[in-house]
Amino acid sequence: RVVAVIMVGGPTKGTRFRPLSLNVPKPLFPLAGQPMVHHPILACRRIPNLVQIYLIGFYEEREFALYVSAISNELRLPVRYLREDKPHGSAGGLYSFRDYIMEEDPSHIVLLNCDVCSSFPLPDMLEAHKRYGGLGTVLVIKVSAESANQFGELVADPVTNELLHYTEKPETFVSDRINCGVYIFTPDIFTAIQSVFTLRKETSNLRRMNSFEALQSATKTLPADYVRLDQDILSPLAGKKKLYTYETLDFWEQIKTPGISLRCSALYLAQYRHISPHLLATGNGSKSPTIIGDVYIHPSAKVHPSAKIGPNVSISANARIGAGVRLISCIILDDVEIKENAVVMHAIVGWKSSIGRWSRVQAEGDYNAKLGITILGEAVAVEDEVVVVNSIVLPNKTLNVSVQEEIIL
Ligand code: GDD
Repeated sequence: RVVAVIMVGGPTKGTRFRPLSLNVPKPLFPLAGQPMVHHPILACRRIPNLVQIYLIGFYEEREFALYVSAISNELRLPVRYLREDKPHGSAGGLYSFRDYIMEEDPSHIVLLNCDVCSSFPLPDMLEAHKRYGGLGTVLVIKVSAESANQFGELVADPVTNELLHYTEKPETFVSDRINCGVYIFTPDIFTAIQSVFTLRKETSNLRRMNSFEALQSATKTLPADYVRLDQDILSPLAGKKKLYTYETLDFWEQIKTPGISLRCSALYLAQYRHISPHLLATGNGSKSPTIIGDVYIHPSAKVHPSAKIGPNVSISANARIGAGVRLISCIILDDVEIKENAVVMHAIVGWKSSIGRWSRVQAEGDYNAKLGITILGEAVAVEDEVVVVNSIVLPNKTLNVSVQEEIIL
């Protein structure tokens, strides 16, 4: 029996995702037309003997209530949201719900960060984990040496795949193999987390005895019940024949900024070709717009037949796309209206926004740059013939003049 746990974090963690995280928790922001967390959930569904999926976070329960009940019905598999009263760290959060998780008597626990985009090769990874016979297996990918320091860098034995060395976001280069934030553990992981708690308590007792040192280190210490999976578990257990690695050659991205979400949307749309082709728009039929490449259009959206859409476009519920509109590489959220002959390129258009006739909302499409894509927050109105380039517009603004390289507060 296998239980999957997806760490969804909480509101303070989504700040880099503004203004899009202002009205929807980041894990529910749509990529390729489906909430971000939906993609790892579907991947978990492919694990044999999966009995339950938990989402653990510190968002309000009501923010996830609708989604978890809809997805549980759709997959005929219990998906539950468990709320932490405060952040306990990636391992501490898991530990706080050990009783729920162990109720299912699992032989394996699949643990996923919510903010990664991947093909999640979980069934193969589980097989490898069983062969290795360790406490845990970490999904690993090779990245460019320049970008590796944004992640946990690690060294593995090329023959046995044992994790030999692990450093979280190191200042000097260790390795171009990084931690993907996808793990398989045996239930012994709870004992490993418990021993970190015990160690913390002992050190804090020692400190209490030495009040000078306590003053000195007060700012550095973490709460006794805060445990990070990477620094507090992976680093100390590396090289002890307990942890192993499974390398993926498929796609993987970390989703920290809205710019990257456009790239991830493209990756998931491309994956639909293999796993859910029915979700892709075909452009067949006289009433269909012209479709180029991978495009998702929600069934309730209305797109004029003379519009030209794609590649990498997803259009959410109740959007209205007018005659002659051109959309390239963009995410159009619910209830957006795009009027005749407007162009949207490398952009995210927020809920209920409207774009006027002959207007352009665009960017260069450098997904890593701060203003590399244009973002309109919720209910932004771009009037007719206005051009918005490489800009971020906060919710409820009306633009009646053109802007370039600006953040409009
Ligand atoms: N429930 C809960 N409670 N979730 C949390 C908490 C917490 O207190 N803290 C973090 N998370 C969730 C985040 O939402 C995210 O999905 C995941 O745990 C990891 O978040 P961080 O601990 O902030 O780490 P990171 O995202 O900067 O880096 C981690 O992931 C990378 C892969 O994406 C590290 O493990 C890196 O080594 C790794 O490369």
